[in-house]
Amino acid sequence: MGRKFFVGGNWKCNGTSEEIKVLLSLLNAGQVPSGDVVEVVVSPPFLFLPSVKTTLRSDFQVAAQNCWVKKGGAFTGEISAEMLVNLRIPWVIIGHSERRALFNESNEFVGDKIAYALSQGLKVIACVGESLEQRESGSTIDVVAAQTKAIADKISKWSDVVLAYEPVWAIGTGKVATPDQAQQVHSELRNWLQKNISAEVASMTRIIYGGSVNGGNCKELAAQPDVDGFLVGGASLKAEFLDIIKAVE
Ligand code: G3P
Repeated sequence: MGRKFFVGGNWKCNGTSEEIKVLLSLLNAGQVPSGDVVEVVVSPPFLFLPSVKTTLRSDFQVAAQNCWVKKGGAFTGEISAEMLVNLRIPWVIIGHSERRALFNESNEFVGDKIAYALSQGLKVIACVGESLEQRESGSTIDVVAAQTKAIADKISKWSDVVLAYEPVWAIGTGKVATPDQAQQVHSELRNWLQKNISAEVASMTRIIYGGSVNGGNCKELAAQPDVDGFLVGGASLKAEFLDIIKAVE
């Protein structure tokens, strides 16, 4: 069985209830390939998750953008994995570079969060990616391998993980990785999974690309053999997201 194309829309900290209503009408009215061909997951801010889940077309799913590393309790401001499961939110994004950089989430902490989310039955979009400085110093592969290892050290349920390669220098900058650059890192990541986990995990795990994906560049990226979909930021807030979902056609 091949890897089903996966398109995630990370809305980040954006949207009012009015704006989200408009976006949902656009998404709900869009013609896209069937769920057998592409899996679509949108990730609104926590506050809007339940209402988006109720209003969103039934062939799209929802994801949280984060969750706590252990069972809930005295952790002011956090949302637990159990709460997401309780509200039937199936997916969560963990390890986004914005959380790593702005909230000091270390590789180890990200690994712990992913392990806990999986243990509660959530599926995880796990993000890795290098900074511009790291790319320019030639350490891209070492950086993403170390980030992936910190996850692999803590988990075994790879069937519930989608790995998102998001080079930090491409996020929100309009500076998309070239199809060759994306393919090269995706293929290295797949090799890493093969060597360090198993051939089966390497061939089944979807590795998606994120960083300035838009309606214009998505087709060429999607044509790369190891690019199994996208995690989209800015363009997921616009009708253009529908074109990105169709990139697989
Ligand atoms: O998680 C998606 C992301 O970080 C990419 O954002 O705005 O460059 O598509 P953007």
